Amino acid sequence: MTARMKPPVLVTKKLYPKALELLQATADVEYHDSRAGLSADRLLTKAKGKVGIVCQLTDKFSAEVLAELPDLKVLSNVAVGYDNIDAAAAAERGVLVTNTPGALTETTADLAFALLMAAARRLTEAERFLRDGKWGEWYIDLLCGYDIYGATLGLLGMGRIGQAVARRAQGFGMKVLYHNRTRLDPAVEDALDAKYVSFEELLSESDFVSVHTPLTPDTRHLIAAAELSRMKPTAILVNTARGPVVDEAALAAALDKRTIAAAGIDVFEREPEVHPGLLAVENVVLAPHVGSATIATRTRMCTMAVENCLAGLRGERPPNLVNPQAWKG
Ligand code: DGY
Repeated sequence: MTARMKPPVLVTKKLYPKALELLQATADVEYHDSRAGLSADRLLTKAKGKVGIVCQLTDKFSAEVLAELPDLKVLSNVAVGYDNIDAAAAAERGVLVTNTPGALTETTADLAFALLMAAARRLTEAERFLRDGKWGEWYIDLLCGYDIYGATLGLLGMGRIGQAVARRAQGFGMKVLYHNRTRLDPAVEDALDAKYVSFEELLSESDFVSVHTPLTPDTRHLIAAAELSRMKPTAILVNTARGPVVDEAALAAALDKRTIAAAGIDVFEREPEVHPGLLAVENVVLAPHVGSATIATRTRMCTMAVENCLAGLRGERPPNLVNPQAWKG
């Protein structure tokens, strides 16, 4: 590459224009201007020869795919989660992998709370009931749900998003329990009014369990039949993290048998497929992975991903590097 040549970069899917323009000012961009992702074969073909790639959570970069991309220097994911990328394999090849933490914290926490409230108060079920013309007369137990105010919220995972949900819970007078790989600093626990408990205690004591862990081999099916059976029959499960953290078949069975009361689910094991058992029950509020879906947040995520990519291409350590072993600077 001569000094005047722009580095070749692939953008795998539609981006917000501001971010794209920022990238185009510095890089020679091949833009797949589509909301539909590339097939694995086309992704690989287009990725070959690129030094930077701005990708999304539907693009899979396994060790095998990365082995085919010897020119790649930076792989910039437009998401905080990066389970679509084998970041360790990338590090072995010196490929910097980046994500977008912080940009979507509050927005995702808003959706977790929205699902929690909608599931507790049976909101989507109530709307279906009304639209289907079933509302004949008011009666005492019409669509009764569960109180949020004063209830116990169990946060599984207490990173940025878990903590943002805890702050929302304070406004609802909730008692907050949490379980995390590492315990928070006591000052942070105090500020959030959150109590560290074992995983088992969190399951058995919480009225609401909200999942905020990344997807790793350790967290796959962290909530399966045994864990669901430890929850209260009145408990509600919320998942805005990653689908495979919850065993969907077990959740569908628990909802059907009412061994837990309800759920609010934004992420699924095999997106965009949804387990038929979840579609069949009334006591679950379902959303199509929209936790960070506001215009402002998605714009910020795109810009952040481009800034990460550009920093790596300039030979600087990207601000949001997730595989620091790859950094040889
Ligand atoms: C993420 O960033 O990981 C979300 O799932 C998509 O915004």
